[in-house]
Amino acid sequence: MRKAVILAGGTGSRLSPITRIINKHLLPVGKYPMIYWPILKVKEAGITDILILTSREHLSSFIQLLGDGKELGVCLHFAIQEQASGIADALSLAEDFVGEEKFLVLLGDNLFVEDLSPFVEQFYQQKEGAFILLKEVPEANRYGIALIDKQTQTVSKLIEKPNMKGPAYCVTGIYMYDKTVFSYIKKINPSKRGELEITDVNNFYVQQGTMGFNILKDWWIDAGTHESLFQANFYMFDNDLKGRRS
Ligand code: G1P
Repeated sequence: MRKAVILAGGTGSRLSPITRIINKHLLPVGKYPMIYWPILKVKEAGITDILILTSREHLSSFIQLLGDGKELGVCLHFAIQEQASGIADALSLAEDFVGEEKFLVLLGDNLFVEDLSPFVEQFYQQKEGAFILLKEVPEANRYGIALIDKQTQTVSKLIEKPNMKGPAYCVTGIYMYDKTVFSYIKKINPSKRGELEITDVNNFYVQQGTMGFNILKDWWIDAGTHESLFQANFYMFDNDLKGRRS
């Protein structure tokens, strides 16, 4: 059975003080808590077995809200990330859940429109490795950025929050991996911000030549700042629970 992991931990420091007592992924986006949207995107891609990773502090709120997922038509599992030590650190906690399977990972604050099904199929046809979805953004320095080799149409390098201006291909928080990801996570060290960076993990795949990619064409946002959370609310306000405009 195909599996997915949704990361819903972190401190949400960029949204403080709103996130001092409320987990970012439980804040309203449109008519629902933010976490509903990634769950529904995973379901739309045909995956119903989902692990949600969050902090010990907020676990009970997630369970109170979502239960076992039946109401949304999915099967939810939960695990605790004891410290906000980065995306790669959180992902390492999914090892037992995914076992030998390939799997999909979503950052819980990434909201978007496109159906992931074709991209998931593209990854399952890929023999091995990982797969990322990119999105053209106007400001490079807020995200992980992908450099694309135009001749070979492959990712040549990934850089986390580069010190450069202007438009670029941002690496969205939509990732797919085979089980090699867990051995790569063990090889990396914390970055300057004290986190195990998913970009460092992804660069192993780039070096091995096993990083697939595609580009999102429709609306996408990382709702981790006041401005982007406001935009997400504005955009999603008219969406119903199927993720479509009502
Ligand atoms: C994280 C990743 C970054 C990615 C972004 C997408 O950034 O580190 O590579 O582009 O999510 O939402 P963070 O939100 O931790 O600053």
